[in-house]
Amino acid sequence: MSLSAARVLDLPASSFQPPAPPPQPKPLGAFRLIASLWRNPLECWAQDHFDKPIVIGGLPFAHVVLVSEPRAIEHVLLDNAGNYRKDSLQRRVLSAGLGHGLLSAEGEQWRVQRRTVAPVFARKTIMDFAPHMLAAAAALVARWRRQDGVSLDVAAAMTRLTLDVLERTIFSDGLGRAPEEFRLAMRTYFDTIGRIDPFDVLGLPPTVPRFAHWRVRSTLRFFEGAIDDIIATRRRRLAEEPDAVAKDILTLLLNALDPETGNRMAEIEVRSNILTFIAAGHETTANLLTWSLFLLSQAPAWRERVEAEAERELHAPPASLGERLVATRAVIDEAARLYPPIAAISRVALGPDELAGTKLKRGSLVVIAPYVLHRHRLLWRDPNTFDPTRFLGEARHAIDRYAYIPFGAGARTCIGSLFALQEATLVLASIVKNFRLDLAPGTAVWPLLRVTLRPANGLPMVITRRRAG
Ligand code: HEM
Repeated sequence: MSLSAARVLDLPASSFQPPAPPPQPKPLGAFRLIASLWRNPLECWAQDHFDKPIVIGGLPFAHVVLVSEPRAIEHVLLDNAGNYRKDSLQRRVLSAGLGHGLLSAEGEQWRVQRRTVAPVFARKTIMDFAPHMLAAAAALVARWRRQDGVSLDVAAAMTRLTLDVLERTIFSDGLGRAPEEFRLAMRTYFDTIGRIDPFDVLGLPPTVPRFAHWRVRSTLRFFEGAIDDIIATRRRRLAEEPDAVAKDILTLLLNALDPETGNRMAEIEVRSNILTFIAAGHETTANLLTWSLFLLSQAPAWRERVEAEAERELHAPPASLGERLVATRAVIDEAARLYPPIAAISRVALGPDELAGTKLKRGSLVVIAPYVLHRHRLLWRDPNTFDPTRFLGEARHAIDRYAYIPFGAGARTCIGSLFALQEATLVLASIVKNFRLDLAPGTAVWPLLRVTLRPANGLPMVITRRRAG
């Protein structure tokens, strides 16, 4: 255990129970279930889901199994992963523009891409991105210094910040000729693909145009065209002056070679993966930061500890910060436990199987819900209490790998987890070092699941400058 971990271990456990919908006393019938899935899927969980390792039931037209037993989860995501694929609704919702990227690909196309892209997200490469992440945080701090005492929507600010980090790490030499138009198109694009279209729920084939996609078709064309222009310019520069080109994610993707065949990725795969990284990486990380800031505002002892840690450690070389910001990281891990940005993962069984004594047939839908798993009574002490000491020292090592899965697990585990955790840690430390954030008076915070888990109505907070600097 590091010295810094030992120093924070003497913290009193907080007794704060952050807001969450109370579980339904018994599983909902089909009609109420569909209504609550539409309103806020977090409200559909019943007490049984948080008490039992496996619960069968749910939708009238599908055999649905919610699994919260770590060995059964390991079986689905790792040992027998070949028997499961992502379900088609999840893939259809994401497919616009991302179809050839890592998140949506299946089978051999996925395998080749994953091994080709892996070095882009290796630990050493991510560490090299630390200065870009700190620079984006510094830009936020500079903006907020002009807004001392003001109430602003921290959820929106975090989304802007995570996009800034991706812009700096993917396209480090800029967004081409019309950066503001590019940013606007990017926001419109991601607003569109995140929505679940009724046609997708009904299972209409992809050839039937989706209303939302049709509405913003010209924006999408502009956005995708702008990325193609940036790629073409970068290819030219790489051919002409390879040593002068920044080693950002775009360069790394264009240079990436499949270690088995030596092949490069096709043009459309490079574009799809850039869109995928932005889609998978900005709202998720923004929510993680937003929840961390909310939780700290409700737990004064932890806030002071994290402030002191940031003051003490943030001057150290960027590459060493991950090891030093121990309390900050524990708060982030606890935020990801209580409010996992991806609250549920689902898979369809391709053939029969058995999970924790329950028989599955071909076509069964297996749901693994980090939100439920992370608050499960059989796996966690005081599951609904905010207590980052769970992630310090020995306690962290005692957590079952398959009981805590904010980034998934197995072959399809999040490729960007190191990136996201490093970014969240550096940004959170930079913010608390400079500002104290308090919930704006009269604000009631409530978690809402809309693709990612976010506070309904944003997170208005008053920002107060901590020191003259
Ligand atoms: C807090 C932030 C994040 C969370 C909570 C998160 C969560 C997840 C989860 C749960 C999965 C697995 C989904 C499944 O098994 O069905 C996943 C996959 C993925 N994530 Fe993340 N993610 C985050 C940030 C990022 C970032 C920053 C990037 C890229 C820059 C990224 C890129 C991806 C990709 C490409 C996949 C698909 C991997 C594959 O199928 O091989 N994610 N993420």
